[in-house]
Amino acid sequence: MMTFDICTLFPEMFETFTKTSIIGRAVAQGLIGVCTHQIREYSADEKHRKVDDYTYGGGAGMLMQAQPVYDCVSAVLGKADAGDRTHVIYLTPQGRVLTQEVAKELTAYDRLVLLCGHYEGVDERALEALDADGISIGDYVLSGGELAAMVLTDTVARLLPGVLGNEESAQTESFDEGLLEYPQYTRPEVWMEKRVPQILISGDHKKVDEWRREQALQRTKERRPDLYAAYQKRQEADG
Ligand code: ADE
Repeated sequence: MMTFDICTLFPEMFETFTKTSIIGRAVAQGLIGVCTHQIREYSADEKHRKVDDYTYGGGAGMLMQAQPVYDCVSAVLGKADAGDRTHVIYLTPQGRVLTQEVAKELTAYDRLVLLCGHYEGVDERALEALDADGISIGDYVLSGGELAAMVLTDTVARLLPGVLGNEESAQTESFDEGLLEYPQYTRPEVWMEKRVPQILISGDHKKVDEWRREQALQRTKERRPDLYAAYQKRQEADG
């Protein structure tokens, strides 16, 4: 079972996430574990449970202090089983960008410890001491790492065996082969005078596969020329 340990100041943000839909079912079936850890509980300040302070050098905003962050993540690591392949991740817009490729890479671990920053971030010394792998979910700034941790957990979890009901659906979908997915249709055959492409009703599976492939290529070329160029380059390299 793969465990996601989430260190955060806002564990309540994960309550619905861990109970709902695919992730909820995976947790209930014991395929994954999602545990939250309140960083505030590791504050050395027993009276006010303070975890943040002003930044050296001045500037707006507060920073999470190294000690509670380090102690929280260390406590989680300390509880891990001896043989666990563990990996500490800090969610940050300054990290490498999460792609399907990165998600696949992360499935190799038994335990991912996800550190969520808030305010203006975390004291750099804690990140260094923890040797945290910085991961961003895209080039925009969230007000905290929590949503990013959910995105990462969802993306990695659905690649694990058994998490998706149908083994196949993780295979033929967007970004498989680095292409966008082809358009899909369900009943009724005609809706608002729009007809489902005839080929999909033909029963000719070979033709359907060809059509889908063509649509995937077309769509990628139009909507994501960057992905299309990379795809073409790979095709050339593979001969
Ligand atoms: N925290 C704030 N913005 C983020 C982003 N884009 N990705 C990951 N963590 C973040």
